[in-house]
Amino acid sequence: MTDTIIPHMNVLGIETSCDETGVALYGTDAGLLAHELHSQADLHAVYGGVVPEIASRDHVRMLLPLIRRVMERAGIDRPDAIAYTAGPGLVGALMVGGGMANGLGLAWDCPVIAVHHMEGHLLAPMLEENPPEFPFLALLVSGGHSMLIAVRELGAYRLLGTTLDDAVGEAFDKTAKLLGLGYPGGPALAALAEHGDDTAYDFPRPMLSRPTADFSFSGLKTAVMLEVRKAESEGRLDALRADLAASFQRAAVDTLVAKSLRAARAEGLERIVVAGGVGANRLLRQEMAERFEGEVYYPRMAFCTDNGAMIAIAGALRLAEAGAAGGIRAQPRWPLDTLAMPPAA
Ligand code: KG4
Ligand code: ZN
Repeated sequence: MTDTIIPHMNVLGIETSCDETGVALYGTDAGLLAHELHSQADLHAVYGGVVPEIASRDHVRMLLPLIRRVMERAGIDRPDAIAYTAGPGLVGALMVGGGMANGLGLAWDCPVIAVHHMEGHLLAPMLEENPPEFPFLALLVSGGHSMLIAVRELGAYRLLGTTLDDAVGEAFDKTAKLLGLGYPGGPALAALAEHGDDTAYDFPRPMLSRPTADFSFSGLKTAVMLEVRKAESEGRLDALRADLAASFQRAAVDTLVAKSLRAARAEGLERIVVAGGVGANRLLRQEMAERFEGEVYYPRMAFCTDNGAMIAIAGALRLAEAGAAGGIRAQPRWPLDTLAMPPAA
């Protein structure tokens, strides 16, 4: 919780941007009251990636029951406000959350606010007991994004660097697929890496030699692919799988940590927030904490990946500052650094 929140409000948060239906109730006084999450991973696994139409239909199926359950658990009949993810994400999936939020807003006669998914990720550590103060550097690493952002205050986000090709979560997922692990591969690859030797392969640390804060992960992915093919042709892939996973993870994490430290120093920032699905990676957390001289903040593991709690708190913070806008908004592409704080309603 933060001291920027003024009025007491119970905010219902709804997340439906991709393959997770997340719902939560956040009280600006009491903190998180209840949260529920339904993952569609099993539905998409057979296709090796997210199928947008299946995602939308499953959000339709799950959203209302999850909202009911969260309201019951929190013991609340109606919230004071509703926050929903308006983008970036899959347009059909976003429309489900936006439609539901606006419908319920009419029924309950309460304000409805559109939230930026990545702003939700970067504010997620505010749900924890020791929340970061502004300003801080945010490393946002998910399946769709790898970004370094200078966060001066709520709504003041300056993009310092981003990925030129694959997002780091995507690189984890694709590498996991190469190694014969299921979808989503990030957590499976990280688990396999625990049993491997991370010095077995000297994979490239992409873009580390360049002064820019941008990332690129396609070269690393290709380097792993070549080694996987070689191991396969020698009939040794099973024996080398864990070493490949560990060496890949080490190269990716080294790159993320080195770029973050460099950006924090250049910007004079003493706090780093690591958020987004890849923020659940144990090695990344450990390395960042060991190598950064300032404070490092994370959401708890469950709130690194997509969830409704981060949308509820982002909505609460924004409502306290600026009020609601109204109308269903679904914005598949939405750059975070265009997200200035709207004028007070
Ligand atoms: O934030 P998120 O749930 O969804 C997006 O907005 O993309 O992030 C999902 C990504 C996936 O690519 C997944 O493989 C990755 O986060 N991920 C991990 C770990 N847990 C999730 N990557 C590496 N290590 C993990 N432990
Ligand atoms: Zn996400």
